[in-house]
Amino acid sequence: MKLKVLIALFAAFLMPATVLAAGQKGNAKAGHEVFEAHCQMCHGDHGQGNPAVGRMLGAKIPDLGSKQVQSLTDAQIRNVIEHGHIKMPPVHGVSSTEISNVIAFVRTLAEKK
Ligand code: HEC
Repeated sequence: MKLKVLIALFAAFLMPATVLAAGQKGNAKAGHEVFEAHCQMCHGDHGQGNPAVGRMLGAKIPDLGSKQVQSLTDAQIRNVIEHGHIKMPPVHGVSSTEISNVIAFVRTLAEKK
C-alpha cells in the first residue's frame, strides 16, 4: 500500500511539465498577450490575417475565427505553432504554457454565426 503511494508520487514528479501543460486548458487573457507578441504581425489584430504578409509568403492566411481553423483540435493548433504549417514558419520562443494560452485566445475568435 505504502509502496503504491510512493510510486504514484514518483510518477507525478517525473511527468514532464510540458506534458502537464499540453493537457491543460489555457488562459485566454494571458494568451492575448502571446498573440500580440508572436502572431499578430501575420494574423492581424483580430486573427483576420494580414494580407501584406500573406502576399509576401505567397500564402492565403486563413481567418483564425473561421470554421476551417476552429474545426482544428487544440493538439493540431499546437502542432501548427510548434512545427509550422505549409507557408507558416514554426513559432519560436513560446513556452508550452504560452501555447496553451494562445490556443485558448484563438478559441475566443470563433465567428459567432
Ligand atoms: C510569419 C507569419 C506568421 C506567424 C508569426 C504566425 N503565423 Fe499562423 N499562419 C501563417 C500563414 C502564412 C498561414 C497559412 C499557411 C498556409 O496555408 O500556407 C498560417 C496559418 C495558421 C493556422 C491555420 C493552420 C491550418 O491548418 O489551416 C493557425 C491555427 C495559425 N496559423 C496560428 C498561429 C498562431 C496561434 C500564431 C502565433 C503563436 C501564428 N500562427 C503565427 C503565418 C504566420
